[in-house]
Amino acid sequence: MALDPVSMFRTFRSVVRFKPIELDPVARRLSSCATVEDMRRIARRRLPRGVFDYIDGGAEDERTLARNSAGFAKLGFRPNVLRDVSELDTSVDFLGRRLPMPLMLSPTGYTRITNSQGELAVARAANRAGLPYSLSTMATRSIEEVRTASPDGDLWFQVYTWRDRGLVAELVGRAKAAGYRGLWLTVDTAVLGRRERDVRRGYTIPPKIGPGTIVDGIVHPGWTLDFITNPPIMFANVVGHDGHDEDGTDPISLAEHVMRSFDQRLSWDDVAWLRTLWDGPIILKGIQRVDDALRAVDAGVEGIALSNHGGRQLDDAPSPVELIEPVAQAVQGRAAIICDGGVRRGSDIVKARALGADICSIGRPYLYAMGAGGERGVDQLLTFFKEGMLRTMALSGRRSIDEIDRDLVEWRV
Ligand code: GLV
Repeated sequence: MALDPVSMFRTFRSVVRFKPIELDPVARRLSSCATVEDMRRIARRRLPRGVFDYIDGGAEDERTLARNSAGFAKLGFRPNVLRDVSELDTSVDFLGRRLPMPLMLSPTGYTRITNSQGELAVARAANRAGLPYSLSTMATRSIEEVRTASPDGDLWFQVYTWRDRGLVAELVGRAKAAGYRGLWLTVDTAVLGRRERDVRRGYTIPPKIGPGTIVDGIVHPGWTLDFITNPPIMFANVVGHDGHDEDGTDPISLAEHVMRSFDQRLSWDDVAWLRTLWDGPIILKGIQRVDDALRAVDAGVEGIALSNHGGRQLDDAPSPVELIEPVAQAVQGRAAIICDGGVRRGSDIVKARALGADICSIGRPYLYAMGAGGERGVDQLLTFFKEGMLRTMALSGRRSIDEIDRDLVEWRV
């Protein structure tokens, strides 16, 4: 055998394939992400610690936060085989529209903290994937800007009831004028949950700059450059009502802001009031019991989002996945059921459907994706969910959403 260097190199070349070097840093980061957890890991590395903790953290001991996704792990599949799964269809009807898969993007406040494009990027990515996106009252891009970024997107608007009902009516009127399809009314935020990571850091919205913040900024240069070369972040829909003290100078804490602005008297009467302002679909976000789900049906809303605000409000609240079945049995199709919380894979969406949810909704996963790779990160995330659904359906012998039945899953506690 010839052992000269040239023939050794030829032999080596014939058995080894070199990966091309990826020069685009976003593509490089994203190519190392196989899961939502990978995006979270990269977001953690790239974002200042206070920013990452604001997104990642939950209330108090974070038990509800942990249980939201752990709830899905308690469900196992009972797959069928030999069913010809060569043609799969993940599309589904959701309140009068056909969606390419049972997934939507939940409202998140202060999205520009992850990437300067903020809600514009999320809306564009959702539109490319054909999925609905709900803009938050506490968004950092306005109702109108988001509509311009996503001219034919399936946009929804999330309402927090401010004490100033005139402001709420004005926001709802702007959403209507901009062609938003429906409203989400958040009902779990009478006061803000105690997010103790933020308490420890003295984290405010917008963040106060101190020596720690400056060091944090220096060690996260990519984020810092993006932050300082773009216009200041503000609550774009409620300018003049955003989180500053009376002089309009010092930022106040989010908890203080919520206490000052949100109406603790919010009740079922307000749901009826909102109905008078809006003839499209209304979803109540934050339902956590069967009796409240039935009350929501009586109030005439079109959708119930089973949600504990991503574990950011009441710790030890139930996890949405565990509520799906009892709520679906009680509601009997009189309102759509959305499972919002802990959804991290396409297989989780299949599980939620099997239990009786109409669709799932995600918040943190797209914030991690934004932190890891901006808008392209969100594109990749939505593809990841779709591929995960297709793979789970193929491996469990379910060709369409209607074939995903209760018999497919069992609780394995
Ligand atoms: C706002 O809704 C938050 O959870 O911070």
